[in-house]
Amino acid sequence: MIETKEIVYKDCRELYSDLVSFTGNKYQPLHRWYSLVEGYSSEFVRRILGEQEKMPEVCFDPFMGVGTTALTCQDLGVKCFGIENSPFFYDVIRAKLRTDYDPYEFAVLIDEFEAYLFSCEHSQPLPEIETKTLFETEGRERWIFNDPVREGITDILEKMNSLPVSFNKYFNLFKVALGNHLVGISNVFRNGKCLSFKKNWQYNNIQRKEVHKLFIDFCRNVILIDIRSKANISVRTHNYVNVFRGDSRELVNNLPDNTIDIVITSPPYLNSRDYTDIYRLELWMLGYVSKFVEERKLRSSALTSHVQIAVEEKDSPNIPELNEFLDHLSTVPSLWNKNIPNMVKGYFCDMQSIFENLHPKLKPGAMLYINVSNSAYGNKICEVDTIIAKIAETKGYEALEIRTARFINSSKQQSIASKLRESVIVLKKNVI
Ligand SMILES: C[S@@+](CC[C@H](N)C(=O)[O-])C[C@H]1O[C@@H](n2cnc3c(N)ncnc32)[C@H](O)[C@@H]1O
Repeated sequence: MIETKEIVYKDCRELYSDLVSFTGNKYQPLHRWYSLVEGYSSEFVRRILGEQEKMPEVCFDPFMGVGTTALTCQDLGVKCFGIENSPFFYDVIRAKLRTDYDPYEFAVLIDEFEAYLFSCEHSQPLPEIETKTLFETEGRERWIFNDPVREGITDILEKMNSLPVSFNKYFNLFKVALGNHLVGISNVFRNGKCLSFKKNWQYNNIQRKEVHKLFIDFCRNVILIDIRSKANISVRTHNYVNVFRGDSRELVNNLPDNTIDIVITSPPYLNSRDYTDIYRLELWMLGYVSKFVEERKLRSSALTSHVQIAVEEKDSPNIPELNEFLDHLSTVPSLWNKNIPNMVKGYFCDMQSIFENLHPKLKPGAMLYINVSNSAYGNKICEVDTIIAKIAETKGYEALEIRTARFINSSKQQSIASKLRESVIVLKKNVI
């Protein structure tokens, strides 16, 4: 029998409400290269590191997103291991963590790129990708990129792909610059769970040369400036070599035992967001995915948190709050998707296995800070933070407190009056 204390709930909205969103990063060098709505701010990581008795030596983030934790750690001289499933985000992370750029060399490359784009007149062939929804083709009523925009993008891709090998280290910088603009120049916008067509998308009149200009301006006025600002700063730790691409449910096992002092992370929320779908423009246009089978593989390597693929039923952890929620779901006559109960079970099974696999990798007394939000299905709130904290308690951790960071709206599908708590779960590895 595991003895558990009552979990302490603390209202920390004053401290965290602005910090658990990505907004603060939009003004920070490097962090600003690609905005991730689902991310938190660099200041969030700094505050957590700052509240430790002494600066931790080794941090870990199993769900890196665009690498806010690892980059902040690098700035503070803290080693940080990390894992990220999306190949695009992984390249964004590595572009930001690299420290061997030569600003002069990059400036020359941008000039060359600009000259090439200036002289582009002929159309490049369409990228060889299986999805047919992206481009204007005969018989289609809607498409994501108008022809002039598609031409602007393929010009940039053509030049990127012909960069000499000696300039390989700059390749990801160009990818990030293009990735950063894809949604803006398209006919769609990110609508929480998916991509939706913009109002009056038919009148989108962005021209090929405007795409070139947006790209070049971003390379010159954002990326180059940031690289210059970092050029003469010596770096004590190079987290570029500590980050891995793949499924953290498995890759956690490859980390060295008994090394990690602190975990600062934010897993996907239990909110049915499929990152493979929301970020599909970046994945398909930048060459990470060209076939549906590849897209499916990527989707199934993500943490179970959406219903885009059928999830097999698993025995979920035996936590009263979870059992009660699952009982409730079983009484709801029409959930908006029949996979929801299995997704909920799968999510907490995944969390349980992460806690298990992570345990030997942590030093005794290691601290964990997990930013999550509660969810709602069948018009009832699922207390995700409490359930995760209680699962952790069954796997060798003490749940110190749950800090309320802010309250957010539930999805339109739920007619729930109260808002959902977004919080920071604070855990400590038990000292045996
Ligand atoms: C909430 S975001 C993290 C944002 C991050 N804190 C930041 O500020 O950029 C969660 C991330 O987990 C990643 N992810 C989902 N399933 C994963 C898995 N099985 N292994 C590793 N990463 C995964 C998603 O691709 C997403 O980037």
